[in-house]
Amino acid sequence: MSWTEWIANQHTFFVHIPTAAAIFLPLPLIAAQRMGRGIRPWWLICRYLAIMGFLGLILTMISGYACVPNLSPLKGLVTAAGRSTSTVALVYHQFFGTLSLVLGIVTLMSMFRKRKDHESLGLLPFTFGILWAVAILLAHHYGTVIGRAEVAPRKVVTAPPPPAPVLRREDPEAKTPIRVLDYQRLIPIHTSPVKSKPHGDRWIRVWASPEAADAYRSGQALPEGALVVMSTVEDRWGRPGFEPGPLCALEVKGGKPALTYYWGQVPEARRSETGGAQQVYWRDSDPNLRSCMECHSQGMAPAKDRSQWGIPRPQRQGGTKP
Ligand code: HEC
Repeated sequence: MSWTEWIANQHTFFVHIPTAAAIFLPLPLIAAQRMGRGIRPWWLICRYLAIMGFLGLILTMISGYACVPNLSPLKGLVTAAGRSTSTVALVYHQFFGTLSLVLGIVTLMSMFRKRKDHESLGLLPFTFGILWAVAILLAHHYGTVIGRAEVAPRKVVTAPPPPAPVLRREDPEAKTPIRVLDYQRLIPIHTSPVKSKPHGDRWIRVWASPEAADAYRSGQALPEGALVVMSTVEDRWGRPGFEPGPLCALEVKGGKPALTYYWGQVPEARRSETGGAQQVYWRDSDPNLRSCMECHSQGMAPAKDRSQWGIPRPQRQGGTKP
């Protein structure tokens, strides 16, 4: 905190001194109007209160101007009309503050006039003193108006409602296509694998979600939310082997098809297909899926292109039975 700020903060403390003087001054001022012996102590009380009030007023003025250093009271008064309550109150506050400074000087001067011991303090200090007290109390009043006006909007500004918690749902499938891996839940379209040329001559089985099964079988457009998974195994001696191949999936999201390609562990001999990667997970707009668009630009491959090559029947070896 800079020293100007510190002084500005003392304003609300210093203000009590002239205000107290303004409250206490009228009674001794009235009492000091009596003529006759023994009236001097009342003069003293009046002078003491006036001096203390005036010194307090100077401290209040200095700390007050530290609060609003670039506002001159008179300039403010001229343009006061049509301003907000707190601005108008500030102008009056400054005006009566400055007026009380002037009246304070006049009051003090009139109180220290030469008087004879038996004389009263006189009507002049009484009049100025009362006017001074009124000016101080008015300045005080407008000060409290500013204080209230400042406190009210500040409450709103300093305590804004806490921002609604942003619900950020993590994508549960960011690392693994969980629903695709759970394909055994779906309806198997192929009861036994067929050899699919377009997919690396692997043996495939297609699995469809219940609402998509009929549409898939008849080769019609898949409904929204449909999930079709194609599981694959490598070929071994012209038959389905035991080495799992990639898992492919087609989903209809927002009316658009979305492909997924997942291979949890690519055998070393097959890594030429995955650009050397040991594990692949391509989905949505992954550039690696571009080659699939040749046949899957509309989503599902045309039914007429589907592979028909099933597992060959075992050849009976060793001739006829005896
Ligand atoms: C040369 C055309 C062709 C290419 C390229 C191709 N596919 Fe296919 N895809 C097919 C055909 C035809 C089927 C039907 C199943 C079958 O008989 O092989 C199919 C089936 C599928 C299915 C099951 C749903 C459906 O459409 O029947 C998925 C999923 C799939 N492919 C994913 C892929 C992915 C991923 C790629 C790219 C890595 C890809 N495909 C590349 C022709 C292709």
